[in-house]
Amino acid sequence: MEFYDAVRRRLSVRAYKPDPVPEDVLDRILEAGRLAPSAKNLQPWKFIVIKDPETKQHLVPACRDQQFVGQAPVVICACAHEDQAWGGMGGYWKSDAVDVTIALEHMILAAAAEGLGTCWVGAFVEEQVKKILSIPDNVKPIALTPLGFPAREAKPRPRKPLAEIVCYDRFSQEQHG
Ligand SMILES: Cc1cc2nc3c(=O)[nH]c(=O)nc-3n(C[C@H](O)[C@H](O)[C@H](O)COP(=O)(O)O)c2cc1C
Repeated sequence: MEFYDAVRRRLSVRAYKPDPVPEDVLDRILEAGRLAPSAKNLQPWKFIVIKDPETKQHLVPACRDQQFVGQAPVVICACAHEDQAWGGMGGYWKSDAVDVTIALEHMILAAAAEGLGTCWVGAFVEEQVKKILSIPDNVKPIALTPLGFPAREAKPRPRKPLAEIVCYDRFSQEQHG
């Protein structure tokens, strides 16, 4: 699939068919995450691939009762090793969440190119997710996504126009164009 088609096709999918994700497709999606850039190439990430139905069901209340998390055949939990990340972003802040977010978005776009649905899940209770997935103290879950074939077509959500969100040469509140 052409790259810009995949970008357009990626929409938040909140209903999934039970059909499994073929292993070769899952491997390609994970590989797209592995190839993501990270600050100083430190790759401070770990991706937990959850297929066990019971574990997925436990994740539903930990994800604020978002039922589609339990419905998808696969859930990926993207985690950060803060102690492995670069500390010089903007001169002073840690890159872990940025690095992991980029890698997960690589996977999400790869999933779209494969005809699979995903949905960023940021509404979760960190302590509960950590307990369910045995995530150690020094590792932080950044986001989860279900992964599977969409059960129905997702509708595109509106976006701000470019004229409102882009400015040139210096910061400006003015709309251009
Ligand atoms: C950081 C982040 C957290 C999000 N958390 C959730 C979530 O917990 N549940 C959910 O249904 N959607 C969640 N979303 C999806 C957004 O609602 C969605 O991306 C936005 O409405 C635009 O729709 P689209 O993804 O279909 O283009 C999240 C998105 C981001 C980037």
